[in-house]
Amino acid sequence: MFKKIIGLFSSDLAIDLGTANTVVLVKGQGIVINEPSVVAIQKDQNSKKRILAVGKVAKEMVGKTPNNIKAIRPMKDGVIADFHTTELMIRYFIEQALKRKTFFSPRVVICVPYGITPVERKAVKASALNAGARYVYLIEEPMAAAIGAGLPITEPNGSLVVDIGGGTTEIGVLSLGGLVLCKSIRVAGDKLDQDIIDYVKKNFNLFIGERIAEDLKIKIGTAIQLKEELKTIISGRDQVEGSLTSVEITSEHLRAAMKEPLEKISEALLSVLEETPPELAGDIVKNGIVLTGGGALIRGIDKYLSDIIKLPVYVANEPLLAVTRGTGKALDQLDLLQQAAYEN
Ligand SMILES: Nc1ncnc2c1ncn2[C@@H]1O[C@H](COP(=O)(O)OP(=O)(O)O)[C@@H](O)[C@H]1O
Ligand SMILES: [Mg+2]
Repeated sequence: MFKKIIGLFSSDLAIDLGTANTVVLVKGQGIVINEPSVVAIQKDQNSKKRILAVGKVAKEMVGKTPNNIKAIRPMKDGVIADFHTTELMIRYFIEQALKRKTFFSPRVVICVPYGITPVERKAVKASALNAGARYVYLIEEPMAAAIGAGLPITEPNGSLVVDIGGGTTEIGVLSLGGLVLCKSIRVAGDKLDQDIIDYVKKNFNLFIGERIAEDLKIKIGTAIQLKEELKTIISGRDQVEGSLTSVEITSEHLRAAMKEPLEKISEALLSVLEETPPELAGDIVKNGIVLTGGGALIRGIDKYLSDIIKLPVYVANEPLLAVTRGTGKALDQLDLLQQAAYEN
């Protein structure tokens, strides 16, 4: 009874703790935070660390910081590279989301990458509890992505979702409310950016940073041949001369640069399809597969994958927010979750 009363006053939270972006939804209010998972830390003379910025402001510092400031992506690669910073980040986002809006501690559902270890799961839970959460539930990314994309996961009908994020691509086969099969590979948006950096270096003798590579990917990147190829001018440091120069780069260059990581994603998808039990595979052939995550926005990625797997491929509505919406739906069903074996 008492718990129910508390529940009425607290603003429960759904958090998509992504390797690239963290999105927080407050029950009854919708999305209140959508920021890069980046923390800028400053070291003072005594080597004591303090947080300088979190989110967008911190991301803008990447590659531009003096020696005593470090912009860290604690969840990079889908593993918690840095527990302490991850904890600071989770606390910061929870505090921001709750600002003056509640006087009871919230219940929190956090979506974590499938690939994280039990120790990392514990650390995420502990961080949220330290930040004032009353209960913390974890949900796996492919599950949240499938719910958010509106797939009929509770039915005895196989669904397949591919979430292409920053650090990881997670491929899940779901049926009857459970993950039947899942594969997580460390090839996603960040790897595309890195391969663009390498390509530009090799082919144009030009050094560009991560942020420029990401901009290129978004602006002119494509997985398939375009009727009208795109182009843009980039500047960077000439590797030989050391001087600053500009070159023209096209979507064809980008396609070449991204070829290998995209192939890795399609290979992982093929291998999951091969391992899928035949009854569920039959459903997937009928229903097709759904893409979520920022990588679903790569030009032509649906057609590219569809040509390889010979099945229909759909991009979820607002793919960058699918996981958050799915985590939010899990929050609505918290009472069910509480009974089920979700508390992990
Ligand atoms: N329009 C776009 N085209 C291609 N890639 C994109 C686009 N928008 C975002 N991305 C990429 O999506 C990735 C972030 O996706 P997201 O689903 O938020 O990842 P995560 O869940 O790991 O935090 C980044 O690598 C980003 O560069
Ligand atoms: Mg994600």
